[in-house]
Amino acid sequence: MAKDLLQVEGLQVWFPVRRGFVESLTSKEQKYVKAVDGVSFAIKEREIFCLVGESGCGKTTTGKAILRLVEPTGGDVRYFGSGLSAAMMKDAVKRSVSKKLMTAKEGEEALAAGTVDVRKLTKDKMKMLRQKMQMIFQDPYESLNPKQSIYDIVAEPLMVNSIGANEAEREKRVAKALDDSGLRPPKDFMWRYPHEVSGGQRQRVGIAGALVLEPQFLVADEPVSMLDVSIRSEILKLMLDLRNNKGLTYLFITHDLSVAYVFSDRIGIMYLGKIVELGPTEEVIKKPMHPYTKALISVVPKPDPRMKTDKIILKGERPDPAHIPPGCRFHPRCPYVMEKCKVEEPEPIYVSQEHWVSCWLAAGEGKAE
Ligand SMILES: Nc1ncnc2c1ncn2[C@@H]1O[C@H](COP(=O)(O)OP(=O)(O)O)[C@@H](O)[C@H]1O
Ligand code: SF4
Ligand SMILES: [Mg+2]
Repeated sequence: MAKDLLQVEGLQVWFPVRRGFVESLTSKEQKYVKAVDGVSFAIKEREIFCLVGESGCGKTTTGKAILRLVEPTGGDVRYFGSGLSAAMMKDAVKRSVSKKLMTAKEGEEALAAGTVDVRKLTKDKMKMLRQKMQMIFQDPYESLNPKQSIYDIVAEPLMVNSIGANEAEREKRVAKALDDSGLRPPKDFMWRYPHEVSGGQRQRVGIAGALVLEPQFLVADEPVSMLDVSIRSEILKLMLDLRNNKGLTYLFITHDLSVAYVFSDRIGIMYLGKIVELGPTEEVIKKPMHPYTKALISVVPKPDPRMKTDKIILKGERPDPAHIPPGCRFHPRCPYVMEKCKVEEPEPIYVSQEHWVSCWLAAGEGKAE
């Protein structure tokens, strides 16, 4: 069985809410936007794990916190990547111990297990790890600098990380990354600017920029949601090929359940900063347990009109991570809400070996019909 490449445990990202001068005088209490509020999951080597949920539920922040592009407030992120040499690990652990980010004992344990706790690395050592963990962004229009040539864009991570002895070597690596991303022949694309290629090709440039450092793990944040439907499947196929040929592992973020269904091995359904249901994709989609998952599935357009299902339209206000409801955070919108749901938060309950759900109904309370 494949081993875990990444383990995320109780991850939290809370953003302090900025207050006006008067408010800060009248109230001492600092309020937070709890964008990520206790997220736990593991991703196996070569696996595609998908985080799904409506806009604002904390998907992007989760991805960024794993790479420490935003600073987590709490929790652990452990990376078991084999791409780090023993010397690099030793140096990273030594620096983190001397900076008191981890104790000497934690340092010894990390070296013995060959893992690093991402949160406990110094910033410069995190840079080293980030070569193995890269992010592909949602918007290929926004994430590429229009003033840079495609060569400059893809070569930038090499420059930043001082990789490649000279220009010729860097050019070779850029050409390889473009080729791997399906921009062939690379020399036809290298000296063009982002506006001189199509939307799908621009996203391929984004992917090449992530691949150029030869990472092991990619966070792909809605990589196809800004693209025409006709191009989406080409980009998804490229990402699947990269997994198969290069052994990449993905955290794939999407608000679109149908994309998650065709693309991922396992899926985590996220609601208001937390995963509420997690399991093998096929099982979660065909046998959803959480009322929120059921509602999401009910509104996915079906290819065959005979497959018509009743749409579950969620009532209530749009959830706000600055005001998370007590008890089950979904309770103000849940069609099955019980008194207990309003005061007690449900713990994850396993409904099969790999499939869990946080809902009192699964614990045998109340009735789902
Ligand atoms: N830097 C930030 N400061 C304050 N709030 C933020 C910041 N980044 C994200 N948020 C808030 O955190 C919540 C989750 O955002 P995000 O992770 O982007 O969600 P998603 O990717 O699921 O749409 C949103 O309410 C968003 O407004
Ligand atoms: S715990 Fe209660 S409110 Fe929450 S999803 Fe289950 S039934 Fe609904
Ligand atoms: Mg997002």
